[in-house]
Amino acid sequence: MCGIVGYIGNRKAIPVLLSGLSKLEYRGYDSAGVAINENGKLRVEKCKGRLTSLEERLKTENLDGGMGIGHTRWATHGEPNDINSHPHISQSGEIAVVHNGIIENYIQLKEFLVERGYNFKSDTDTEVVAHLVEHYYKGDLLDAVMKVIDEIEGSYALGVLSKDNEDMFVCARKDSPLVIGLGDGENFIASDIPAILEYTRNIYILEDKEVAVMTKDSVKVFNSLGAPVKKEVFKVNWDVEAAEKGGYEHFMMKEMYEEPKVIRDTFSPRIINGELKLDNINITKEEIDNLQKIYIVACGTAYHAGVVGKYIIEKLCKIPVEVDVASEFRYRDPLITDKDLTIIISQSGETLDTLFALREAKNKGSRILSIVNVVGSSIARSSDDVLYTWAGPEIAVASTKAYNTQLTALYLVALDFALKKGTISKEEADNILASLKEIPAGIEEILKDKENIQKFAHRHYNAKSIFFIGRSLDYALSMEGSLKLKEISYIHSEAYAGGELKHGTIALIEKGTLVVCPMTQDSLFDKMVSNIREVKARGAVVLAITQQRHKEELEKTADLVLTIPDVDSLIAPISAVTPLQLFAYYMALEKGCDVDKPRNLAKSVTVE
Ligand code: AGP
Repeated sequence: MCGIVGYIGNRKAIPVLLSGLSKLEYRGYDSAGVAINENGKLRVEKCKGRLTSLEERLKTENLDGGMGIGHTRWATHGEPNDINSHPHISQSGEIAVVHNGIIENYIQLKEFLVERGYNFKSDTDTEVVAHLVEHYYKGDLLDAVMKVIDEIEGSYALGVLSKDNEDMFVCARKDSPLVIGLGDGENFIASDIPAILEYTRNIYILEDKEVAVMTKDSVKVFNSLGAPVKKEVFKVNWDVEAAEKGGYEHFMMKEMYEEPKVIRDTFSPRIINGELKLDNINITKEEIDNLQKIYIVACGTAYHAGVVGKYIIEKLCKIPVEVDVASEFRYRDPLITDKDLTIIISQSGETLDTLFALREAKNKGSRILSIVNVVGSSIARSSDDVLYTWAGPEIAVASTKAYNTQLTALYLVALDFALKKGTISKEEADNILASLKEIPAGIEEILKDKENIQKFAHRHYNAKSIFFIGRSLDYALSMEGSLKLKEISYIHSEAYAGGELKHGTIALIEKGTLVVCPMTQDSLFDKMVSNIREVKARGAVVLAITQQRHKEELEKTADLVLTIPDVDSLIAPISAVTPLQLFAYYMALEKGCDVDKPRNLAKSVTVE
């Protein structure tokens, strides 16, 4: 889970590399480093810590030259320290490598190299690549890299620089993301588009096992057999600002404020003249009628969106749905067949557990429909059908707007299938779509009331443990609310089905225990009111989230009632999650946590 960049052109490379790395720090920030070819001399500077530490160091070390590679790290093999930082240098010091991913067979390769006199300085898997390139290098860097990618197993995005080649460097990828930015007399590589957006909007997306030779005036791409590949230019329509904070204190708050727009962006292109049209996803009525089961597989917040998806699809389409965390799904030999559909959900489209779960389902014959936010990502390109969530770049590690758009996409899929299957009428579907269109305005209202949530957080940020309880869709919401709180405020919390509490966990409720209750399901409202009374009787403090229509009644029981506009219970999760995201945000803020870059986490988990 690292970020890599590369540049060749007439500019000074260092400022370009540092600017790119600053936009990739959400991928990992344990250490950073750069390598430059300065008139045939390889110069490398790297160190433990945030990019700022490297920037400090570079103030004194004047690295000159128009070609270089850079890296920001999230440690997997070898603890965060200077030695294990990238770039890694080969034995002779003539090859420098930056890498994102994991070389799974690095132990065997290390033994092969040690037998041939190579000494290893670091504990990383990546150093193997540097020595191996040197081992195969006979004056042709492309040839050497091709030989290396034939040998290495696992995931990689690589940037390779050599002393001898002052006017070119090589990059390659498999499973880890890598894009190439096309400039005028200059070219770029990066793990993600925001890193090079200020320089170019013309992008090549490198496919698995593709290698590219980068020069100032050309980018030549080859497949794993060495055959030239003609690449399609992908024009990015995001603006640089989208990748920057736009005046908000944190990316997380900016991205919550983007929810109304991105939800609209996600459903509007799919409702044409009142008719639902899911892009070019052609799952026919017949195929839906013959579906035995739907599997939804994902990780973290995306998994929680999947739990909501299960309730919705079963309710509207009457098709059985099994929802699974990807890291369990791929190793439990699931009973999936070609009569089943697998819905994969991922913001980044690069989460390795999810990608491998996709492959597991595909290998068993299941059709793959993915709900993904990053165009051209590995999961998108490995799927039979893709429904993009148009959330734009999500920088904050804690996923917010992407979750709202994942729910929106799941409702569209459920409505499409239910209409084709005839399990709901056109009128029912139109009513749900009409309610969906009210959601963005509803979230704008919720955001206006955020100070109320901040005040509550100010009174309770010292809580040691917090419980989220809900029933049905609110149970799924509670899972997401609990994860959001945990991952950015580091407060322990658990989500529980409202009816399950009395079977044990209520023993943990005592005077002052904070209990958060999403209560958006009209049919279960009274049941949840009894659950609130149960915990109140043990001294709990209750924060409830519900529609305006229930406010008055609920204020008789709960300590604070946060309201969402009066939406239909069925689609309430799309807006009811926003108060939970705000609650987590303000608890983390009150505790002085690094809201956008929480400890031990990274935005896209590209290792197992
Ligand atoms: C959520 O806030 C976390 N960043 C994490 O749980 C995330 O949802 C999970 O890693 C899945 O990521 P993906 O959607 O990019 O696949």
